[in-house]
Amino acid sequence: MLHMNEVIEAAVSPTVALSVGLKVDATVLTDAVVAGIQDGSISLDDPQTTLALISLNAVVGVQGEVSNNADGTLKLDRMGITCALCHSTVDDSFTDGIGNRLDGWPNRDLIPGAIIALSPALTAEQKAIYNSWPAGKYDPRFDHDGLNNPVVIPAAYGLYGLPNSTFTGDGDVEHEPAGPVAYWNRFVAVNEMHGHGFFEDTRLNMLNDYREGDDLVTDNLPALQAYQYSISAPTPPANTFNADQAARGKELFSGKGQCVTCHSGPLFTDVIDGGKLHPQSASVAVDKDYVNRSATKQWRVTPLKGIWQHPPYFHDGSAETLTDVVARYNQVGKLGLSTAEQGDLTEYLKSL
Ligand code: HEC
Ligand code: HEC
Repeated sequence: MLHMNEVIEAAVSPTVALSVGLKVDATVLTDAVVAGIQDGSISLDDPQTTLALISLNAVVGVQGEVSNNADGTLKLDRMGITCALCHSTVDDSFTDGIGNRLDGWPNRDLIPGAIIALSPALTAEQKAIYNSWPAGKYDPRFDHDGLNNPVVIPAAYGLYGLPNSTFTGDGDVEHEPAGPVAYWNRFVAVNEMHGHGFFEDTRLNMLNDYREGDDLVTDNLPALQAYQYSISAPTPPANTFNADQAARGKELFSGKGQCVTCHSGPLFTDVIDGGKLHPQSASVAVDKDYVNRSATKQWRVTPLKGIWQHPPYFHDGSAETLTDVVARYNQVGKLGLSTAEQGDLTEYLKSL
């Protein structure tokens, strides 16, 4: 137990929450709350406001039970997080961090490590590690193997039809009855969120201490996966790329750039033999180690639909922009693309 409810109740105002990247869903705010925030009668510097927002289910990815103290103030009896904490964001339509909810869009502003490190239940050593994780990154394997190498929070849209899930393709079609994404959903639900349920993967030497019959996870997996599969990748906003250049870039993608040898098919992943994975050396990211902590010890070819939406790129976030991605491939792969060609290829990536 991380005792996060106590921390939030005592010290986490909406301003603090927004500063660590938490998002507020404006669509569930009542008119009175919106007016209060606008005229300043509801303070965003008061932890009590956070509790009021949680009771409205307005803090994306945070669910809690709020009740009244004898003096009328609010208290947070219990709380938990959901997948939306990391895998949803908002469009900032009301103000920075407050707007319409966008499920599947990775929250790259979120600083999960800083949030976890607020827990009074952790040792100073553990806190130091969590505090070292930058915005938009999280290490889902740290709890299990103790190694510290966080990866970017990936997009959770456009997953329908993918033969493998995760950067390293740990969830494959054969592994779990309900498909590749269900494998990782179970991993997260049981190992990360400590939901009551069963997880076993002999490839990772993982088996949780499961009590027969104590399973609240399995029955939820089909609906969860169906929802994820219903979220398609967002199309690029108008006028965000040059169409003529993108058309030339498309030729380069399958020609001189050789990108299509791995990023093939409508999802731009490798679908050969039902989902081919690639060895450690196939990634042009700076970090080479994360792959060794996975079940497959190989890379999945990251799907590229909606890629315009979520910089930085690669599992380690080592390319700030799509221009950097193309420059990296050009250099590592000795592709010999001219500056103009690199520009064209970049515009094509922006159009996907
Ligand atoms: C604290 C942040 C965080 C939370 C909360 C979280 N995830 Fe993730 N999720 C990640 C990170 C980081 C990865 C990348 C892991 C990897 O690929 O090795 C990931 C990967 C995934 C993927 C793989 C996507 C792909 O490209 O194949 C799926 C699916 C997913 N998460 C679903 C969930 C579900 C379902 C929940 C809730 C039960 C959840 N996540 C909660 C951070 C989070
Ligand atoms: C040998 C197979 C292979 C080839 C060829 C290849 N890629 Fe990739 N690509 C990958 C793999 C594997 C990853 C995931 C690497 C990682 O995150 O460490 C990736 C990741 C990416 C990403 C980052 C996606 C994200 O969400 O972070 C982009 C963009 C990309 N590739 C574009 C290209 C372009 C453009 C080319 C051609 C110039 C290309 N790739 C050629 C295998 C390949």
